[in-house]
Amino acid sequence: MHVFVTGASAGIGAALARELARRVPGARLSIVSRDAAALERVAADLRALGASAVVLPCDLSDPDAAEDVLRRAVEASGPVDVLVNNAGSQVVGRTASIDIAAAERSLVLDLVTPLRLVRAVLPAMTARGAGRIVNIASAAALAPTPGMTWYNAAKGGLAAASEALRGELAGSGVTVTTVYPGIVQTDMADAAIRAFGPSLALRLQPVVTAEVLAERVVRAALAGRARLVHPRFYALTRWFPAVTRWLMDAFTPALRETAA
Ligand SMILES: NC(=O)c1ccc[n+]([C@@H]2O[C@H](COP(=O)([O-])OP(=O)(O)OC[C@H]3O[C@@H](n4cnc5c(N)ncnc54)[C@H](OP(=O)(O)O)[C@@H]3O)[C@@H](O)[C@H]2O)c1
Repeated sequence: MHVFVTGASAGIGAALARELARRVPGARLSIVSRDAAALERVAADLRALGASAVVLPCDLSDPDAAEDVLRRAVEASGPVDVLVNNAGSQVVGRTASIDIAAAERSLVLDLVTPLRLVRAVLPAMTARGAGRIVNIASAAALAPTPGMTWYNAAKGGLAAASEALRGELAGSGVTVTTVYPGIVQTDMADAAIRAFGPSLALRLQPVVTAEVLAERVVRAALAGRARLVHPRFYALTRWFPAVTRWLMDAFTPALRETAA
């Protein structure tokens, strides 16, 4: 089975790649991000787990480069059976003074590139009548966070597209799993928490490890489930959006002065 994982050099993506290597016997993993040395370290872990691994360094904020790297992965390892759109970045700060170049890069990386990769794998998946697509959105798609305008836009867009795509592909044999993680212990979450001032609301939120999330994501994806909200506490945001909006506006801590 050929598994293509973006953003596999660190955090959730590296944990997902390891979990897929463990759970899918004889998996052929293609792992992509910018940092070739970090990818090589993850590849060594994957090989130790019995999988094969091809390292494909690429800046995925360029969607043409992303499609090109996917083409090379298919040439090396055959058609993609499992696509995991995980790579992402986050710009936290005041909307009026945000670094516009960084914000636009993140919008492309978090939203445009995943949709381009989906389009690129779909013809072969639908022709075979089989395939798994996993889109790592965010709880921010269900509970948009003040101070993260561009990230909310990207993750809200990805989640909406991913949910709609699942309906479009119903009965095709290709499944789409949309993932809504809450706070996961990674460099990205650390940076976001540092951008906000101290807050009891933030301290009370459940935090999970990348490994625990990865185990749940792989199980949901291989079973073809529509979505995973984890920790489950955040599932309440789907059922009570008006209460969620009120809570987010009332309790999101102020950005620190140093945040953009
Ligand atoms: N951590 C959380 O609390 C949380 C919550 C909800 C959703 N998420 C989502 O989960 C996904 C993974 O996040 P994480 O927390 O694991 O973040 P992370 O630790 O910062 O890892 C991000 C990954 O994306 C890759 N990446 C970043 N920019 C890239 C680019 N331009 N081209 C290619 N690869 C790039 C990074 O690799 P290189 O630096 O090597 O390029 C790294 O492998 C993201 O989509 C994020 O939005 C995270």
